[in-house]
Amino acid sequence: MVDPVLEDRNPWGDKTSYDKWVESEEVPVIKGYYVEDLAAVGVGPWKRKGGLGAIIRMEGAEETNDCYVCEIPPGASLKPQKHVFEELIYVVKGRGATTIWNDGEKPQTFEWQEGSLFSPPLNTRHQHFNGQGNQPARYLAVTSAPTVINLFHNVDFVLNNPFQFKDRYSGESDYFLGSRNKLYTGVEHFQETNFVPDIRSARLFPYGPRGAGGYNSKFQLSDNTMVAHVSEFPVGTYKKGHRHGAGAHVVIIGGVGYSLMWLQGQPRMKIDWRVNSMFVPPENWFHQHFNTGAAPAKYLALRWGSKKFKMGKAWGTREDVKKGGDQIEYPDEDPEIRALFERELAKNGLTCKMPPRAP
Ligand SMILES: [Fe+2]
Repeated sequence: MVDPVLEDRNPWGDKTSYDKWVESEEVPVIKGYYVEDLAAVGVGPWKRKGGLGAIIRMEGAEETNDCYVCEIPPGASLKPQKHVFEELIYVVKGRGATTIWNDGEKPQTFEWQEGSLFSPPLNTRHQHFNGQGNQPARYLAVTSAPTVINLFHNVDFVLNNPFQFKDRYSGESDYFLGSRNKLYTGVEHFQETNFVPDIRSARLFPYGPRGAGGYNSKFQLSDNTMVAHVSEFPVGTYKKGHRHGAGAHVVIIGGVGYSLMWLQGQPRMKIDWRVNSMFVPPENWFHQHFNTGAAPAKYLALRWGSKKFKMGKAWGTREDVKKGGDQIEYPDEDPEIRALFERELAKNGLTCKMPPRAP
């Protein structure tokens, strides 16, 4: 009888199943808190996709979700894919088409362009085509791959799974045509839709709770657990600081400005942004968005938080931190936040349009 050998270290190493899968994809990997320009991210050949790409692992995603950019060369198409993780797709540049089908059902094809937002329903087969012969098409995809791959740690189950989620998609011929879109109104506005032709010009509605005279709309696509929202706020204004869970990929789709991100009691990180910049506030970090340009600022957030398929902690993103919520009201913010904003506006020859701070 031999005693088992005991070692004082973890014999399995520190990598997650998702870490290992990312390595096996053999594409460039980008890490950090923000990306300056999604259109300029360097991409390399991606064998599984049949195009070019890079996986972008933002700190603030905290491996709950993740994203990548993928480029389809001029006149080319990608290989068909199928996976048991959700995927929200935003077209960064170019135009083309996507064909979607379940085995045994009639495929259907829809066309997209720069600014389009859609999501291949969970585990459907889908193939993307570049519609232009003279320039590449590029999209950003935010996926729930980290959670799914880490949970099942079996890539074959995730990528070669015959199960059809008929509750999400069963070949309806009008699925991507918008004929069954629904709008839910209230303090917040939700649009249930499976294809948005150009999210940059999607209909928005006044949204009071975050301040700044902003406009907003949420988008529930393809019966996902992940959702999207668009927020717009006027020249010379900034929004209230607030905090929530990980994984909100904020993509700038209009204007210029900056955001502050900080964990309570810690130094603030400043992120300067413009169209196609992206950042992800880490879980429980306050963050606050500032418009320093001469046009309204607008961003698209690709994130967790479906109201239709709820999951996890409900954050008090509309409630005052003084009352146990997760939003800082303007009178309670550090005066340096307003002072910095005024200095940044002055660099662009603009003035602050916010109500004066109480003395
Ligand atoms: Fe946020």
